[in-house]
Amino acid sequence: MRKNTSKFLLKGGKPLHGSIKISGAKNAASKLIIASMLTDQPVHITNCPIGIGEIITTREICEALGTKFKKYSNNEVIVQTKNVHSNSFSASLGIINRIGVLTVGPLLQRVGEAKIPRPGGDKIGARPIDFHLSALEQLGAKVKEYKDFYLLKATKLKGANISLPFPSVGATENILITACLAEGKTFIHNAAIEPEIMDIIRMLQKMGAIIDVMTDRTIVITGVEKLKGANHNVLPDRLEAASFACAAIASKGDITIYDASQSDMISFLNSIRLIGADYEILDNGIRFFYKGKLKPICIETDVHPGFMTDWQPPFVILLTQVDGVSMIHETVYENRFGYVSELKKMGADIELYDTCLGSLPCRYKNTNYLHSAVIKGPTTLKPANIHVPDIRAGFSYLVAAILAKGETMVDGIHYIDRGYENIEGKLSKLGVDIKRV
Ligand code: EPU
Repeated sequence: MRKNTSKFLLKGGKPLHGSIKISGAKNAASKLIIASMLTDQPVHITNCPIGIGEIITTREICEALGTKFKKYSNNEVIVQTKNVHSNSFSASLGIINRIGVLTVGPLLQRVGEAKIPRPGGDKIGARPIDFHLSALEQLGAKVKEYKDFYLLKATKLKGANISLPFPSVGATENILITACLAEGKTFIHNAAIEPEIMDIIRMLQKMGAIIDVMTDRTIVITGVEKLKGANHNVLPDRLEAASFACAAIASKGDITIYDASQSDMISFLNSIRLIGADYEILDNGIRFFYKGKLKPICIETDVHPGFMTDWQPPFVILLTQVDGVSMIHETVYENRFGYVSELKKMGADIELYDTCLGSLPCRYKNTNYLHSAVIKGPTTLKPANIHVPDIRAGFSYLVAAILAKGETMVDGIHYIDRGYENIEGKLSKLGVDIKRV
């Protein structure tokens, strides 16, 4: 795990004001770089958040396989994989996140073999890759599981009729990337259709792929023989936009987020208005603002177009400032409230339950997973020394620290650096007193 020992020292107590421009989406950019390996021609990707840990890791994985980064500056990358010279990358890269699993498709297509270390990633649930492996088998790969890695081989990949047990983002992406060059048609039933996936589809289409998205969340890929180079601009990061929006409203502030995209954030925007805050859609972004007492809400996280699970942690901090009792039912990950114990140290009034506090179908019904939360507010949060457990929780702790009058020390910030570009620069621009120490 790539760690750094620095911490954030943050003096809270002031509302956020001003404007920032958000970065390109981490959860699209890393996959676009991997998808570029399907061709031997150059692929030019702009609006790419090259400074974050996730993209740096993606670069290291791709370089280990043979990709050359001809440009890696000013949020632009030009990548080219003329030859794949290895079928594997180190376990120390594999454990950092889950990106490496997506190299299977390009490796099978180009050298017929992929040796993939067991993936790591944030501790927000078990996060198996059984859907990926089963789909790859259906596409014609032979999969062998070893203690520390998976070995996949294929002489020829053929289109298949795949039904996902749950609309997994990663599994949908893995099938998409693998099936573009498979022979015949591939159907992904119950596919995920997150905006980041649509962005990958847009780039693959520019590269020569044939992909249809049906109204019932079925994706149909018609295999082609060859893909070519392309230019692509990464879509804006809707998780980053939502995180800053929560910080602004919770602190009773008013900020403009340039590049925030209304169409990618519909359910988030509805929730903002339902709690009594507001937003204004501008030509080039969205303004979020506090306008008086906040009201409680019940939210259930879901796959797109529902309220996304990555918005949940910063929204929970916002709900600590609401007048009344709010509820969140987390249906995507079984263990996404691990960050709550540190918040309680800061005075948050949050109780967790294993019951489904909502009506959406939930895989964690009748289990012991604490996947529902009841948040009572408004609470005056107090400063504390807190430790970050994962990316989204990390930003939420920064939001909590922004609200707490006094000095909060946040450590474990390599998680925040994995997903947020120039976080202290952006927060300082909004008036936050934050230092990396
Ligand atoms: N799942 C399985 N088996 C599989 C794959 C998934 O059981 O083979 C389960 C997972 O355990 C989870 C659910 O399906 O309970 C959804 O997982 P999904 O595959 O959709 O998530 P992912 O692809 O691993 C991506 C993002 C996450 C984001 C989720 C959901 C990346 C690199 N990660 O993860 O983002 O929470 O989709 O939208 O794109 C983050 O950015 O902080 C982050 C965690």
